[in-house]
Amino acid sequence: MSAYGQFRKPFPLYFRKAKGARLWDVDGNEYIDVHCGYGPILLGHGHPTIINAIEEAKERGLQYGAPSDVMVEWAKLIIKHVPSIKKIRFVSTGSEAVTYAVRLCKGYTKRSKICKPEGSYHGTSDWSLASTAEYGGPPEAPTPVPHSMGLDHAIDKFVIIPWNDPDNAVKIIKQNAKDLACVLMEPISGTGLGFVEPTKEYLKALREVTAENDIPLIFDEVMVGFRWGNMSCAQGYLGVKPDVTILGKVIAGGAPVGAYGGREDIMEVVSPLHGKTPQERVYQSGTFCGNPFTASVGLAVLKYLDAHENEVYSHVNNIAESIRKGVRDLVTDMNIQAQVVGKFSNFEVHFTDKPYTNLREFLKVNKDKLRRVDLELINRGIFKLPGHFAFTCFPHTKEDVAKILEAYQDALKIVS
Ligand SMILES: Cc1ncc(COP(=O)(O)O)c(C=O)c1O
Repeated sequence: MSAYGQFRKPFPLYFRKAKGARLWDVDGNEYIDVHCGYGPILLGHGHPTIINAIEEAKERGLQYGAPSDVMVEWAKLIIKHVPSIKKIRFVSTGSEAVTYAVRLCKGYTKRSKICKPEGSYHGTSDWSLASTAEYGGPPEAPTPVPHSMGLDHAIDKFVIIPWNDPDNAVKIIKQNAKDLACVLMEPISGTGLGFVEPTKEYLKALREVTAENDIPLIFDEVMVGFRWGNMSCAQGYLGVKPDVTILGKVIAGGAPVGAYGGREDIMEVVSPLHGKTPQERVYQSGTFCGNPFTASVGLAVLKYLDAHENEVYSHVNNIAESIRKGVRDLVTDMNIQAQVVGKFSNFEVHFTDKPYTNLREFLKVNKDKLRRVDLELINRGIFKLPGHFAFTCFPHTKEDVAKILEAYQDALKIVS
């Protein structure tokens, strides 16, 4: 049974092979891949540096259940590019990292509530699945809405703030400050809102009010980390230092991963040397934490990016910009009401007449039309997961851009 995020009507495609910027399904059909594995595939499938790392991993062994030299090197490279992270812990998925980062902040602050903006998405953790794609209450004072059954134990623990409304967000944070363990947010509302950046005022206000009340500010950079322009991640682009950062996806180039790290005094609380009883420490462990296979692949990817940062990022960013520009020209020529969104190495076209700035506006976008366009792209050899924004990767070429735009032209014609 395929997972929620992988299932699409009428049925999901099943794949057998990937190489460079291409995918082949089980029937042998070839596709240009603009899904890029939900984002981690920045260097492309089977990049030589990744193949070498896998070859080495064969010799190293796949799993020790103990720390390794590659894990330490990998951590150092992340910290080099994301200086707000002083210490880091590796886990196996972004959702796991969210779960543990929230637990850590609860332990650090000895408070129990999680504040998050309406529309921010953080994977499948119980401690993030409120008001992701649903909303409740008035826009200036949203109430938490569960995204799933089975969250009764968690839903009252959320405090929801409006996105890009600094005055009301600060008011709600101040009112709840004594209970708040963290403010958990996507620094760029990617998965949640299809790339709505926070305004300068909003981010400044959140940074200030959290600092004043000693509430850890968590940036969930699972989606945008090491994709948002260069290796400095969204926090480098925005010029704001969070207290805790959550990473995933690109840091292991396709191997399963999640990580959380941040201020030394906060990370100290999850150290095995901290406290003597369960009441004095935050416990977090796992068979596969920092496993040598993922670490080998992750280290190889980050080493390559470190040595070729400009070359890789300018290529993937330019390719995506050419696609965004081409699709913008197409919808203008065809007189289609649409917003072509995204920045750097991602893109999407949303069918709505004006730019949206928050979840309530975003939900008015015609998602059905988007899915139908994406299915038509698939029929023309472009694998874009229906309804989900797309990514570019290093092996994409100008010829690929031309094929993608040709497919968009047909798809938009059919669906509009
Ligand atoms: C911002 C954000 N946080 C967390 C996650 C969850 O990561 P994973 O799917 O590895 O559990 C995602 C997944 O897309 C994400 O976009």
